[in-house]
Amino acid sequence: MKEQLTALRDEAIAVIHAAKNMNELNEARVKYLGKKGPLTEILRGMGKLSAEERPVIGQMANDVRAAIESTLERKKEELEREVLQKKLMSETIDVTLPGRPVHFGNRHPLTKVIEEIEDIFIAMGFEVAEGPEVETDYYNFEALNLPKNHPARDMQDSFYITDEILMRTHTSPVQARTMERKQGEVPVKIICPGKVYRRDDDDATHSHMFTQIEGLVVDKGIRMSDLKGTLLAFAKQMFGENQRIRLRPSFFPFTEPSAEVDISCVICNGVGCRVCKETGWLEILGAGMVHPKVLEMSGYDSEKVTGFAFGMGVERIALLKYGIEDIRHFYQSDLRFLKQFSRV
Ligand code: PHE
Repeated sequence: MKEQLTALRDEAIAVIHAAKNMNELNEARVKYLGKKGPLTEILRGMGKLSAEERPVIGQMANDVRAAIESTLERKKEELEREVLQKKLMSETIDVTLPGRPVHFGNRHPLTKVIEEIEDIFIAMGFEVAEGPEVETDYYNFEALNLPKNHPARDMQDSFYITDEILMRTHTSPVQARTMERKQGEVPVKIICPGKVYRRDDDDATHSHMFTQIEGLVVDKGIRMSDLKGTLLAFAKQMFGENQRIRLRPSFFPFTEPSAEVDISCVICNGVGCRVCKETGWLEILGAGMVHPKVLEMSGYDSEKVTGFAFGMGVERIALLKYGIEDIRHFYQSDLRFLKQFSRV
């Protein structure tokens, strides 16, 4: 019986050591320590032993059971450790791997220029106003002293939606809308950035959709010199302290007198170059004193108040500022182009 117990212990320990996973280990536990296992069998047969043999064999059987149990316990811990180790290995993160790049967006160059211009005018006390891109004939033309069949309507070939509704051809309708809203109240001091639409063939310098910033000031005693001073202050802040501006006589139905405003060439500083076509000047906006009829139509007494207005092309300014040679780059959403403005 002693040999039997020793053999049983050695066999059990060998089987336990050979277990490859928890299942096999449990099978071994059932097999050697279970109710139907050999150890139970031996203990059950103890009754047949002599009184001297019984405690010896009993003691031995208990020792064998304890040995098997502790082996099981150790093997269990070992297997658990292995499982944990495997799990940790499979979940390791290689912190030395290069990170996946995160693609940050950046402001569109036109947006940057609009915001820069807005900031300059806001600092001078202007408010930012907005108006619809789909506009009525009334605000786009009539309220700006361009009655139906007025020849000057041809200056701005339009996209009509119906006879009375069109894509606005300029931001000037916001002048009329703002004055109407203010109901004769002064001062009015707004700028209005926005998209405008004209029937034009797209090329390096033309686009059927482009961006303007409108300006309007109405108050008692506003004069042409206020317009000139405001625009000079703007030009200096936008393009540098050495900037000069000049006003050339022009015509717009909604301003009288009207002017085209040039800034000294930002490329050659007025000397003459390819960009300014050797003139030393660049045209960036149209302006003038608000026509009395326009004031009247929107509810202002032209005997009591006067105003100036201007409209500038944002693309032209952005082209000059960034040295871009083709206006179409602004609208093509080409990331290779747009990415270049992430840090400027
Ligand atoms: N609306 C004019 C244009 O688009 C520009 C302008 C605005 C002129 C305000 C004078 C006053 O050409």
